[in-house]
Amino acid sequence: MELNIALLAGDGIGPEVIDQAVKVSNAVAKKYNHEINWTPALTGAAAIDAVGEPYPDETHDVCVAADAVLFGAIGHPRFDNDPSAKVRPEQGLLKMRQKLGLFANVRPTFTFPSLIDKSPLKRERIEGTDLVFLRELTSGVYFGERGRKDDNNTAFDTMTYTREEIQRLAKKGFELAMTRTKKLCCVDKANVLESSRLWRETVQAMEKDYPEVTVSYEFVDAVAMRLVQWPSDYDVLITENLFGDILTDEASVISGSMGLMPSASVGTDNKLYEPIHGSYPQAAGKDIANPLATILSAAMMFEDFGLTDEAKAVRDVVNKSLAEKIVTEDLADGAKSYKTSEVGDWLAENI
Ligand code: IPM
Ligand code: MN
Repeated sequence: MELNIALLAGDGIGPEVIDQAVKVSNAVAKKYNHEINWTPALTGAAAIDAVGEPYPDETHDVCVAADAVLFGAIGHPRFDNDPSAKVRPEQGLLKMRQKLGLFANVRPTFTFPSLIDKSPLKRERIEGTDLVFLRELTSGVYFGERGRKDDNNTAFDTMTYTREEIQRLAKKGFELAMTRTKKLCCVDKANVLESSRLWRETVQAMEKDYPEVTVSYEFVDAVAMRLVQWPSDYDVLITENLFGDILTDEASVISGSMGLMPSASVGTDNKLYEPIHGSYPQAAGKDIANPLATILSAAMMFEDFGLTDEAKAVRDVVNKSLAEKIVTEDLADGAKSYKTSEVGDWLAENI
């Protein structure tokens, strides 16, 4: 198979972790006789510096023309402490999600047997956790009307959803649940928010089309608590944009490290794969960041192209590196650690 992949390294540790994912993907391509054509493009602070815009039109064109996008991270501290900045790297990410129509963000949470004691949560609570969040990604309070009024003394952000936006996300949730344990949880705040009541009403109306799926409806605050208490009670969870943002960071604690969790953002026409961690500016350029989340995101990409063996090869070699402790310092427990690039080399050689 010939794959054309847009490569958006972005900011901070983005370029370093992306390099390792490319190494490992190329090794997979070589082994299984595929050809991957990578087309780099600018995004984030790097793009602001180069062309004054965090998601330039040229980058969008590269993404649209590609079969998929592999993305590193976005964000730079120089913008974080400047509320008056007119252009921010994160705007590029939101614009990219919206323009590419990536309405469903798939964020799995699972544990690695060799790392189970890295999690701050007790082993017996988290063993066997295997859940997936489907976070709505192109609507809600991230994209609703916002502004200031009353002489700049009042600010507002609006959580808006249409029935159709909820339906298309929920459909993916039901379909995913059918391929797994047929359990779906709709996470909302229907006791307070009107948009959540529309979520609940819409998902309830879809239940009849998926009679085998058991659907539960839970409030987001309760899920925040139960998620770390009994994570294995959950399988597929669907939720709106901001709730999903918060809960998936929380869920990453179960696996023991944010440096491990991959994600896919999909829509009707485009697909993007990225680690759930951010740009981790403190580590940028030091060759110490954990590349596994990005490498496992590339595995999700192979899977979505129907390349199941290839995806498995990536996951197997990652598990092997963890078992043999060929890991970056965040996972080394004070024992010998390896550089980002060394972990990438080792994985590529062992594919
Ligand atoms: C994420 C990030 C982004 C988000 C930020 C960087 C805008 O936290 O992908 O989860 O809030 O969606
Ligand atoms: Mn987030």
